[in-house]
Amino acid sequence: MAKSKTQFVCQNCGTVHNRWAGKCDGCGEWNTIIEDDQMGGIGGGPGKVPKKGRAVALTTLSGETEEAPRIFTGISELDRATGGGFVRGSAVLVGGDPGIGKSTLLMQAAAALSRRGHRIIYVSGEEAVAQVRLRAQRLGAADTEVLLAAETNVEDILATIGEGKRPDLVIIDSIQTLWSDTADSAPGTVTQVRTGVQAMIRFAKQTGAAMVLVGHVTKEGQIAGPRVVEHMVDAVLYFEGDRGHHYRILRTVKNRFGPTDEIGVFEMSDKGLREVTNPSELFLGERNSKSPGAAVFAGMEGTRPVLVEVQALVAPTSLGTPRRAVVGWDSSRLSMILAVLEAHCGVKLGQHDVYLNVAGGYRITEPAADLAVASALVSSLAGLALPADCVYFGEISLSGAVRPVSQTAQRLKEAEKLGFAGAMLPATSTEVPKGANGRWVTIEDLPDLVSRIAGSASKLRQTPEDD
Ligand code: TYD
Ligand code: MG
Repeated sequence: MAKSKTQFVCQNCGTVHNRWAGKCDGCGEWNTIIEDDQMGGIGGGPGKVPKKGRAVALTTLSGETEEAPRIFTGISELDRATGGGFVRGSAVLVGGDPGIGKSTLLMQAAAALSRRGHRIIYVSGEEAVAQVRLRAQRLGAADTEVLLAAETNVEDILATIGEGKRPDLVIIDSIQTLWSDTADSAPGTVTQVRTGVQAMIRFAKQTGAAMVLVGHVTKEGQIAGPRVVEHMVDAVLYFEGDRGHHYRILRTVKNRFGPTDEIGVFEMSDKGLREVTNPSELFLGERNSKSPGAAVFAGMEGTRPVLVEVQALVAPTSLGTPRRAVVGWDSSRLSMILAVLEAHCGVKLGQHDVYLNVAGGYRITEPAADLAVASALVSSLAGLALPADCVYFGEISLSGAVRPVSQTAQRLKEAEKLGFAGAMLPATSTEVPKGANGRWVTIEDLPDLVSRIAGSASKLRQTPEDD
């Protein structure tokens, strides 16, 4: 008799192991490996002699596409993140921490689409119908024709959404609650989640309905996270934000039908999520331009410029190992900037604690922020405030040179629009617009930056009204 094959799957990263272990070799997480039945999920064979395959008709790249491929919500920040609306027949994964506002966003999207005459089905696996109705009332969506079901069984969901007129968009909230009769493992495991998601994607492809799948990011890995299905879906959006702040960012990390790196910015209010069309104004909101250690970074998120304040605090310490704490930026990148400052500019920070914070709880991913960070650090150490109307961008290399970054013109344009006449940018920047009336200073290397900051700050201090 054939032995029934079992395997051990990490619930965090999906790595398959031959035997159980406490720690996953793939991702280094502990207690995430669970015994799983190989026959159930994807890649699991039928366990019998395979039947002879059926040839499908091959087709060409050019051909009739049935109807307009995208459906717009009219919520421009959401449409921006999806690359211009949901694509018919595609599957989009919306991931994020529990409680960040995924269900709220999708309920608002469902209501907006329904008002535009689309047939929308919202399947909630986490909340009862009454709870979803309460939220809809709060969001002013209760009068729309969004169809609602509370169900978790994959076969039942498929039967429900397959009945009657084809839906334009189906929302499954969340994939971690899905379970199928065909997979033998417990709900929430990698096998169950993958089986459920695969069935939903198949439905989308077959019927042309757009499918939105909600996935919670899980820290412990006891439940399979959205990462294990990222490769199966057409687009992946992450909904991020800080619990302490009201705004949320919808970030595109994968998109087969549009650009990645786009963001949509929202603000959580008592009546749901509000669009933030000018994020720079939000992140620069309560700026105190007179204090040392603050530099405004002119960043880019996809095609959109975002201005955000970088704050540094450098303080002497008596501890043997000084503290380095970073919020909103990469801490190894900070160590690099500190090392370059020390090696090439003689700025000694070995006896100082260094704290770095990106205002408003925003997270910077671009290396172009190096110059702003270095400026904030030097400004704080010297106790000199930087000019209030100046932005900074540029990448710093280990040699201390300031390297050019992309989209110089857009960054400068946004800065000017928001009243920042000055800018410090890499000397080798191409595409610097000519004839503009901005006070733009090009920087060769880090020592150049340090001397300019010292120079401009001392000039500032000499003006009588500042004394
Ligand atoms: P929710 O959409 O349920 O999060 P998720 O689906 O990602 O788990 O939203 C959770 C939080 O949003 C909740 O803590 C309350 C808050 N919230 C508001 O502040 N205003 C609102 O109008 C709504 C509906 C929710
Ligand atoms: Mg939810």
